[in-house]
Amino acid sequence: MKPLALSLCIALLIVACKPAPEKPAAETLSSPSGKLRLYFDLSENGTPRYSVAFKDKTVIDTSLLGFTLENAPAITGNFKVVKISTNEEDETWEMPWGEQKKVRNHYHELQVELKEKGEDGRPMKLYFRAYDDGMAFRYEFAKTDNADTLLITDENSEFKLTGDHTTWWTPGDWDIYEHTYNETKFSAVDAISKRNHPNLGQTFIPENSMNTPVTMKTEDGVYLAFHEATLVNYSDMTLRVDAENLKMTSGLVGSDRAAYKAKVALPFSTPWRVILITDKATDLLDSKTVLNLNEPNKLGDVSWFKPTKYVGIWWAMHLDINSWDLGTGRHGATTERAKEYIDFAAENGIGAVLVEGWNVGWNGWKNARFTKPYPDYDIEEVVRYGREKGVDIIMHHETYADPANYDRQLDSAFQYMKDLGLHVVKTGYVGHIKTEGEYHHGQYMVNHYNRVYETAAKYDVAVNAHEPIKATGMRRTYPNMVSREGMRGQEFNAWGKDGGNPPSHLATVAYTRMLGGPFDFTPGIFQIKLDEWREGNQINTTLAQQLALYVVIYSPVQMAADLPEHYRDQPAFQFIRDVAVDWDTSFAMNGEVGDYVTFARKAKQSGEWFIGSITDENARDLELNLSFLESGKTYTAQIYKDGPNAHWDNNPTDITIEEMEVSSETVLPVHLAEGGGVAIRILEKK
Ligand code: NOJ
Ligand code: CA
Repeated sequence: MKPLALSLCIALLIVACKPAPEKPAAETLSSPSGKLRLYFDLSENGTPRYSVAFKDKTVIDTSLLGFTLENAPAITGNFKVVKISTNEEDETWEMPWGEQKKVRNHYHELQVELKEKGEDGRPMKLYFRAYDDGMAFRYEFAKTDNADTLLITDENSEFKLTGDHTTWWTPGDWDIYEHTYNETKFSAVDAISKRNHPNLGQTFIPENSMNTPVTMKTEDGVYLAFHEATLVNYSDMTLRVDAENLKMTSGLVGSDRAAYKAKVALPFSTPWRVILITDKATDLLDSKTVLNLNEPNKLGDVSWFKPTKYVGIWWAMHLDINSWDLGTGRHGATTERAKEYIDFAAENGIGAVLVEGWNVGWNGWKNARFTKPYPDYDIEEVVRYGREKGVDIIMHHETYADPANYDRQLDSAFQYMKDLGLHVVKTGYVGHIKTEGEYHHGQYMVNHYNRVYETAAKYDVAVNAHEPIKATGMRRTYPNMVSREGMRGQEFNAWGKDGGNPPSHLATVAYTRMLGGPFDFTPGIFQIKLDEWREGNQINTTLAQQLALYVVIYSPVQMAADLPEHYRDQPAFQFIRDVAVDWDTSFAMNGEVGDYVTFARKAKQSGEWFIGSITDENARDLELNLSFLESGKTYTAQIYKDGPNAHWDNNPTDITIEEMEVSSETVLPVHLAEGGGVAIRILEKK
């Protein structure tokens, strides 16, 4: 045990050295700077509870902890404290790929060993961590002579709010995360009215709850984001809304096959329950707490995975120009078309090509075969041709939400990839889970998703999952979890029965979904109006915003999603050619939740800086302070900005491209149009 701050030490020593009193006084855990303080104690009837203060103001009021079980009495009151200990960590670790190279993990920890009173009293251990930008807790259960399994019907972790905060939320859907965000007061959260979404392949919202990350702003200007870290062998946590008492309770995703939500063999640790707490919206974006709560890298060297941009036989299907299915006369995944995409990628310095609809199963969207190409797709020849041109093929495994069928083929599917020399797969789980009674976010599927990652890793394969389980920072432990969807992607703009993603979508997603980790949104649509293929549909941003997304959205696999012919002869495409995908440093320069956001990132190899800024439906004037550039040097800024008449609806492709000299002294004024953005590349002048 390393020493903590003196005051904390003294407080804890008193408890640690004496036998635990019947009702101990509250324990205090301070974050490294003291900005955040967490209090723990037992209620009158011995129920564990906590509260949190940020800058001396309560931000989470007294909240109770406990469980209800199917095979045993509820774990709730009647506890006594057996032992209290503390721990401190201050390490800096390196990401093999990521939005930054070095990550500092600095926290104080309180460990509380509890036991129910009485002879057969059950043990439970709580871990609390205090970071300067948030706190987390988890439960640990030991195996005892009386119990080796818990059947958890509900986790009852409370999060008691101190006011009716502004809340950015999506419904606590057990089956999909692809809802638009809502901005309401906490008391007005109404997930039930979001049922029956027209564009969702599957959806199940049993109660008034929210999916995490969910972000809030208090009247005092404090930002709170609720999420979880290390989701292993458990079910996804939604947050149940108790509007009257301004309280949330963990709501685990269940299944129709059992009354319990999770069955866990003991010993067992739950995922971390995380609350990011900051006084600037952008500090949420720079937080590495969710990542830090995960275990270090267990895979070792993953240099076989190279962050890359990619194009793909993909958008053409969403526009209905091509089909995934064979025999339609417009099958997309042909050898010839794949070669055309490879040529395009090679000409433009894009490292990879995704090919969807290549394998048996699409006709009928069932019983996928992951080692059986359709007859018009010569996969060996495509891979060989790609290799000749320096372009990799990204494998596609659409499971049609049939995990059992995928499980049976996991080894052969990844061996097939290994034999072909392929290192990245995009997976998909469209539709209702075919295992009767299961939902995408329940324990059964959490275990399936994790099994896919673990098996893939054995074959040096990185996974980009669509219709995934949410990102909980596990890429630290398994760096082959490179990216995922888990939010409404670009494809919704193509189908757009509901008008597609609103202009505020990504300015909200940046502060919510993206707090979990890399997001495969698939940006870069240049042909904004889609009437030619899908009458009335469009991308609800300007072209400049589509470019800015390469910097705003972090993903180590980043698609240039439009058809190659829409990029030809487009000067703006130069930005996509130039932009990096692996970063040395990243930080959020400015922003407000749901309104706008600006990121600056420094590329790993070239040392070039990139800036991306996006706004919602409101135009905005911002000043970008370039003081992060090395002083004394001069740089060229290549600026791709909204043209004078740009507007996401009236004139989305109006873009101005200009160059100017900048330095660390420069404060650059930028104007973002309605639904607009700006993308900037900054390189040193030699
Ligand atoms: C949904 C995915 O999000 C999309 O990218 C993919 O093209 C389709 N499923 C088909 O697999
Ligand atoms: Ca999807």
